Amino acid sequence: MTISGNFVDGYVQTKVGLLDRRIFIDPEIYAKELEQVFGRAWLFVGHETQVPKPNDFMANYMAEDPVLVTRDAKGKLHTFLNMCRHRGNRICRADHGNAPSFMCTYHGWTFSTDGKLVGVPGYKEAYFEELDRSQWGLVEASCDTYKGFIFANWDRQAPSLPNYLSNKKSEIDFMAERPTGEAEVIGGVHRWVMGHNWKFAADNFGSDGYHHPITHGSIRNATVDGKLYNRSVAERLEFRDPLDNMPAGPLRNYYKAHAEFLKKRMGGSLDGQNQILGSVFTVFPNVSFNCSRYAVRVWHPRGPDKTEVWAYCLVDKSAPQDVKNAMRNHITQTFGPSGNLEQDDASNWIQSTQTAKGFISPKYVQNLQLGLNHEEDASVNETGQRGLYHRWAKLMDAPSWSAIPDWDQIVTSPSSSVRKTHVTVRQVSN
Ligand code: FES
Ligand SMILES: [Fe+2]
Repeated sequence: MTISGNFVDGYVQTKVGLLDRRIFIDPEIYAKELEQVFGRAWLFVGHETQVPKPNDFMANYMAEDPVLVTRDAKGKLHTFLNMCRHRGNRICRADHGNAPSFMCTYHGWTFSTDGKLVGVPGYKEAYFEELDRSQWGLVEASCDTYKGFIFANWDRQAPSLPNYLSNKKSEIDFMAERPTGEAEVIGGVHRWVMGHNWKFAADNFGSDGYHHPITHGSIRNATVDGKLYNRSVAERLEFRDPLDNMPAGPLRNYYKAHAEFLKKRMGGSLDGQNQILGSVFTVFPNVSFNCSRYAVRVWHPRGPDKTEVWAYCLVDKSAPQDVKNAMRNHITQTFGPSGNLEQDDASNWIQSTQTAKGFISPKYVQNLQLGLNHEEDASVNETGQRGLYHRWAKLMDAPSWSAIPDWDQIVTSPSSSVRKTHVTVRQVSN
């Protein structure tokens, strides 16, 4: 197909809550979003605790482009294209480590952790010292951090990271500020590939509270203590003390012991709070945070109908080891390749993507009208998803960042937990 018309009010009609299903499957639209969205947005590339020392590095991706996040010898963070400037070989194949430089395995060009080309075999005898090495350093993206989370951006015209994050900063705070101090990433990164468009995952974590009692119905009928119930949909929505949803033992005890901190963080009261640890949200375009389990996941696009998930486990850095272990177990039991909640979600995203592949099905739009024009009153809504797709459509249409002066005004989340709503479907954590 050839792309025709605008994305705002065309493929994506957020005012009336309709989405053209081709945005999830069409190769041309996918190619365009790699350039217009992933080529210009701030993308999450890791956490500072993964590269704490000078010359630490870790590999990651910005969409389909491999990148290397380094802390140079002076301690400054960088994000580089993981690509040799000679013939394009990947300069580092390790996932993470510590090294003062990277030597390309093809012909030996060598780059320091601040991106400079510091070694060229045959520089005198074959290049006759005519190669301007200062012009052939690694390709570097803008790199900045917010509370330990590292983001990178290819577009020098993009808004600053704080402006870009806008109201998401206060939600990230819940992820970053823990009862006993800061958070840290532990272990490696879980990675796996699923057969769905990346946007389904980003929008689901962005604000799909509607799916909980149905998609996760089976797990809502079980308890963390192993008992089984046959709850109705309404019962699955009933408010329960979120700390009682924690596995009994070190984790539940830890949070109960720090209830005062959590209470203060929520603005003074825990009454009616449904997610005292923070909410589940997406920072546009493709990194999602689950504060109730302190899981971070990146939805790397791998073609219109494939997503490579990278899942990080964040724990309280200063917590006792048994609490850290319990946090890690809680994440992996619920999210990750073997997580009981993860599998519920993925199955639906895969089907929703694959059904768009036919000839007839893409002719029918998707409905995204939940709570439309009743944003404040609806017990659950798709406001966040409408915001996410509106942002996506704006970037798809815009010739440059200057055409989107209202970026930080676009509503992307109902902020259900942070704004202290009473019982909403969002109370049930993902
Ligand atoms: S491709 Fe890296 S040195 Fe030739
Ligand atoms: Fe879910």
